[in-house]
Amino acid sequence: MISRRSFLGAVAAPSLAAACTGPDLHRALQRAQGDPRGPEEVAADETFWREIQAAFPVDRSLTNLNNGGASPAPSVVQERLEHRLRISNDAPPYHMWQLLAPGREVVRQGLAREFGGDVEEFAITRNSSESLMICQHGLDLERGDEVLTTDQDYHRMLKAFRQRERRDGIVLRQVELPVPCDDDDVVVRRFADAITARTRLILICHVINLTGQVLPVAKVCAMARERGVPVLVDGAHAIAHFPFRIDELGCDFYASSLHKWLFAPMGTGLLWIRRDRIADVWPLFSALPEQDGDIRKFEEIGTHPVAIGLGIAEALAFHRGLGVERKLARLVLLRDRWVRELAPLERVRLLTDLSPGRAGAIATVQIEGVPTAPLVEHLWDRHRILCAGIRHRRFEGVRVSPSVYTTPAEIDRFVEVMTGIARNGLPG
Ligand SMILES: Cc1ncc(COP(=O)(O)O)c(C=O)c1O
Repeated sequence: MISRRSFLGAVAAPSLAAACTGPDLHRALQRAQGDPRGPEEVAADETFWREIQAAFPVDRSLTNLNNGGASPAPSVVQERLEHRLRISNDAPPYHMWQLLAPGREVVRQGLAREFGGDVEEFAITRNSSESLMICQHGLDLERGDEVLTTDQDYHRMLKAFRQRERRDGIVLRQVELPVPCDDDDVVVRRFADAITARTRLILICHVINLTGQVLPVAKVCAMARERGVPVLVDGAHAIAHFPFRIDELGCDFYASSLHKWLFAPMGTGLLWIRRDRIADVWPLFSALPEQDGDIRKFEEIGTHPVAIGLGIAEALAFHRGLGVERKLARLVLLRDRWVRELAPLERVRLLTDLSPGRAGAIATVQIEGVPTAPLVEHLWDRHRILCAGIRHRRFEGVRVSPSVYTTPAEIDRFVEVMTGIARNGLPG
């Protein structure tokens, strides 16, 4: 259970704590602190979640089941962001750089406290892409060196390695993972079997974006460590989605977006690098030799809205108040609500293994015989239900990702529409 002290501890500066005083939300989160019930029981308490739903000022004339793409932020995050953007415009060199910028260190401390690691190991970036590319382009690799990943990694990250192939002559190798992926040993073995004397880096998704499948990152890291291969984890969907500590995974580099499951402002991410590896990574924006071991070298990107990164503070406070176990339990409850209804239907195939620990909010479903692109288009055009269409060389389906503000009624509407399509196909 999370104590009131640890919730408030997420925001060191009093001005940031004041951002959480939306009365209903504040009361709901306060009550949650002393709630003796377990996460599953709270997850089913609709009265509690109604207040969380109200904390997100979203358009309820549409049903957003693509929260894996990028999430709306709750009002407490959005309002403080707007306030900081407004004051930044007064006298930017003063308001932005002198008044606001020092708050980044508070954010850094909050990230370390919440996600596990030394404060000097966390850089604040704009998204996973930036964090990952810092590592993908910043590590010294020679012609013929190999980097190893899967056939289900994010397209942009594969593109980064493809560019290094063209530019530096490195070799990208990809292992094929089963779909659904229900066996940790298979994942570890496929990576292990593909390691050669030239393997210099493994890139692995913590959560595969195509299916929401959670991969056994710690096991892959343990295997790689024995063989002396560093591991870069793409945690775009993992941070604030389910409980874990980055520094306990055994990886060398960890990247995530904070505008997904932390509900921070759009354009926020983190990069964690194990202390003794920071100096091995060149920043994308050049730094001086004396900055080699300083994680802040990755943040020198020129003038940009400081307000955006500071919004992580309110998002952390909201996240802590909610509690990651309760959050995950609610996300799983919402996911299972649609899965329970759709999975037994004929022609419906689930592409995600939903055993505990192998998936959170995100799952992908295929209706055999119904092509995904027109299905996703139909959901949106006719029903204003937003889902992500997934198309991979080996599989396709509709990726569904509810969030804490999603109502059971919204899930039921989705179920109703999908059931009709599974039974009768797409209307002509
Ligand atoms: C697995 C994975 N990696 C990286 C990214 C890139 O995230 P961002 O666009 O926030 O940089 C995404 C985006 O959805 C993703 O799913």
